[in-house]
Amino acid sequence: MSTSKKVILVTGASSGIGAAIAIKFSEEGDKVVLVGRNERKLHNVSQLCKEAGGNTLIIIADLTIDADIKRVINTSIEHFGRLDVLINNAGVPGSESILSDNAMRVFDEIISINLRAAVYVTHLAAPYLIKTKGNVINISSIGSTAICFRINSQYGASKAAIDQFTKCVALELATYGVRVNSVNPGPTKTDFMKRFGYDEEKQQQVWNTLLKATLLNKIIEPSEVADLVLFLASDKANSITGSSFVIDSGFSLKGLIEE
Ligand SMILES: NC(=O)c1ccc[n+]([C@@H]2O[C@H](COP(=O)([O-])OP(=O)(O)OC[C@H]3O[C@@H](n4cnc5c(N)ncnc54)[C@H](OP(=O)(O)O)[C@@H]3O)[C@@H](O)[C@H]2O)c1
Repeated sequence: MSTSKKVILVTGASSGIGAAIAIKFSEEGDKVVLVGRNERKLHNVSQLCKEAGGNTLIIIADLTIDADIKRVINTSIEHFGRLDVLINNAGVPGSESILSDNAMRVFDEIISINLRAAVYVTHLAAPYLIKTKGNVINISSIGSTAICFRINSQYGASKAAIDQFTKCVALELATYGVRVNSVNPGPTKTDFMKRFGYDEEKQQQVWNTLLKATLLNKIIEPSEVADLVLFLASDKANSITGSSFVIDSGFSLKGLIEE
C-alpha cells in the first residue's frame, strides 16, 4: 500500500514523537487521527498538521479507559471510513524500586498505558487494517533491552512486552497482509522528562547524562524518529514485518549510565 492520502491513527499525538509523526504524515497529504488527553496541545498539533497539508480529526481520550479506546476506533471509522496505519505511541515514563511500597501501583499505571492500551487499540483496529492491508507501528524504546536507568523495571518490562507483542501479532496478521513493526528510540528531546515530575534543573541534569551516554554525542529529534516511522509505514518497507528498529545515537552500545 502507498501511504499517500491514507488514514493514520496516532495515539499520544499531543506532543513529542507522536506530534512529529502526525506532522510527518500530514506532509504526505494524509488524513491523521490525533489522540491524546490534552485538548489545547492537540489543537496546536492539528494546526501544524493542516499547515503541512494534512486533514485531521482530534479525539480527546484517556487510553487507560476501555470506553475511550472503543470511542477512538468507532469515531475514526465513522469520520474517515477506513484505517491504513496505526501508530501506538502513547506512553509514560517512570519506575519505582521493586522494594518500594509503590512498586505495584506504578507497575499497574505504566502497564495500563504503555502496554494494555496498545494491545486493546490494536485488537479493535485489526479488522479495519485487514481491509486495507495496512500496518501497525509500535513505539517501543531501547529501554526494552538496554539498561537506561538503575531503577527502570516497570517501564523496561512494558517496552520489552511491546517488542514481543509486535512479533507475535506480526506473525498472526501476516496471513492477512498486515505488517507490524516497532521503533525503539533512545533519548529523544520531548516532554517525556517533564513527566518524571523533575524540576528544570534535574531535567537538564538527566539530559546531560543521557547525552554523554550516546556514541554520537547527540540527543535524537522527534522528527528523526518520525522519518523512520514514515519509511516503515510505506510501500518501501513491504518486506519488513515483526522487526524492531533502534534509533538511539549509539546509546545501547555505551552500556549502563552512571546517574
Ligand atoms: N523521549 C524519549 O526519550 C523516548 C525514548 C524511548 C521511547 N519513547 C517512547 O515514545 C513515546 C512517546 O513519548 P514522547 O517522548 O513523545 O513523550 P511525550 O511528549 O510526553 O508524549 C507522550 C504522549 O502520550 C500521551 N499519553 C500519555 N498518557 C496517555 C493516556 N493515558 N491517554 C492518552 N494519551 C496519553 C500524551 O498525551 P496527553 O498528555 O495529551 O494525554 C502524549 O501525547 C512513548 O511511548 C515513550 O515511551 C520516548
